[in-house]
Formats: sequence, structure tokens, C-alpha cells
Amino acid sequence: MQEHTYQAIARFVAQESGIKLSEGKAYMVETRLTPVMSKFGISSFEHLATQLMAATGELRQAVVDAMTTNESFFFRDRTPFELFEKVMLPRMAEEKRANGQPLRIWCAAAATGQEPYSLAISVLENQRLLEDIDVSILATDISQAALATAEDGLYTQFEAQRGLSAQRLITHFEQEGIAWRVKPQLRELIEFKELNLLKNLHQVGPVDIVFCRNVLIYFDVETKCHVLGKIKKQISPDGFLMLGAAETLVGVCGEFLPTREHQNLFQPTV
Ligand SMILES: C[S@@+](CC[C@H](N)C(=O)[O-])C[C@H]1O[C@@H](n2cnc3c(N)ncnc32)[C@H](O)[C@@H]1O
Repeated sequence: MQEHTYQAIARFVAQESGIKLSEGKAYMVETRLTPVMSKFGISSFEHLATQLMAATGELRQAVVDAMTTNESFFFRDRTPFELFEKVMLPRMAEEKRANGQPLRIWCAAAATGQEPYSLAISVLENQRLLEDIDVSILATDISQAALATAEDGLYTQFEAQRGLSAQRLITHFEQEGIAWRVKPQLRELIEFKELNLLKNLHQVGPVDIVFCRNVLIYFDVETKCHVLGKIKKQISPDGFLMLGAAETLVGVCGEFLPTREHQNLFQPTV
């Protein structure tokens, strides 16, 4: 692929999704977009770059789907889920019960569903703490393909084993052939929705706990800060924001401050 073609495709991907393709990613772009070109009958990367300028929804979505990295696994990095159970839920439960309000959790880059289902498992395992509180989880992602997998809730043995204990697997999943499907009680806690973090986030509505992990790493500093500013508008003043292990806000923007409990767990600044 010629350099100017790579630049045009990279510009499109950044505009559509915020994902910043660094130098030297041409090989990855070629590998990921070749199947898209076959599907749409596009004969060269040059033609693809030209067509993207005026592309319809379907081609645009296919390119975005192909360029997103949807890697995820259950209870990824463990600590965020320990903090969810030991810090976020207890503090929120007390307040929500006292005010008779629902507790709303938002998983902002849900990928293929392992993260929102892990949160739902934690919610079910803390039912006593959350007694009488209406808890819901909103799981969003820009990738339609990833969300379709998430909504389906069917995982291979390999995927299920990545992060789930045998106990959790048999409690919350049922075997379907050689795969595992989430049980209805887990599925019912979650609403899945396509959502681009660069776009209007008002449809999210007020939320108390946000998991936004391993997505901001793909954005440049300006985009990160822009997205964090919009997340701040949706989160309650004493709510929590959990970022990924490799994600820091130091020197990025002042919308959130790290908590005493953990450097990747944040609360909005006043
Ligand atoms: C590596 S996965 C992270 C999954 C999960 N949060 C975790 O930590 O295991 C990154 C996800 O971010 C999504 N993503 C990328 N850009 C996005 C955007 N602009 N809006 C919403 N989701 C986006 C991708 O589709 C992908 O599913």
C-alpha cells in the first residue's frame, strides 16, 4: 500500500473511531482490511481509500469493525473487579438504598462481552449487599460485530476458561455442545447498545460506575481528554471511573482524580 493511501485510511479510522494508527501499521491495516475489500468487491487499497470518502454505512461499519481490537477476557486484571466489589459497590449501595435510587453501571468498551458479564457475575454474587436496589448494566461498543457476539453470550471452552473459575462457569453458564452460554439471570442484567465514544453520549443517561478499560489507549491525548469530558457529564458526582491497567490520566486532563484505593480508579473532580 502506498504511503498516501495508508495516510488516507488512517485519517478515516481516526475520524470515525478515534483510533490513532501510528507509523508502521500498514501491514496490520492490509491484513485486517483485505477481507473487507473481498466482501465489498473492492480491488485495491487505493480504491478503498477513495470509496471511504463517500462510503455508505455498511462499508464504513465494516472498516471500523475490522480496525477495532476486541480482545477481552473474563475478570481481566482481577483488581478492577476486586475494587468493584470491595469499594464501589459497598459505597454506592449505602447511598442508593438510603435514597431509594437505582444503581447504574456502564461498561463503555464492552467488546465481545466478557467485561459486562464479569460485572454482572459480581453483581449476582453480591446480591445481599445490593438487596432492594435496582441494578442495571449498560454495555456499549462501537463495533457491531463484537456487540453481536456479546449479546449472543456464547463462548468457546477456551474463552470461558480465560478468567472464569470452574465454580463461576457452572453457576452462571450452561453448556451448549462444546461451548458455554450465559444463563438468563446474567443476560437480563445487561442492556447492549452500539455507541461511539466520540459521538453524543447523552443516551447513556446518568451512571454511577463506569468501566472504560483498554480503549483510551488507542486515542491521542486530545481525543482522550474530549471523551473523558463527555463521560464526566454522564457520571454522578460521587461516581467511579475504572480505567485499564496501562491507562493514566496524569498530564491528560483534570476531569477525574485517582482515588486513594487505586491509581486506575477515579472520581470526578468538582
Ligand atoms: C481491547 S477492547 C477492550 C475490551 C474490554 N474493555 C477489556 O478491557 O477487556 C477495546 C474496545 O474498544 C472499542 N472501541 C474502539 N473505539 C471505540 C469508540 N470510539 N467508541 C466505542 N468503543 C470503541 C473496540 O471496538 C473494542 O471492542
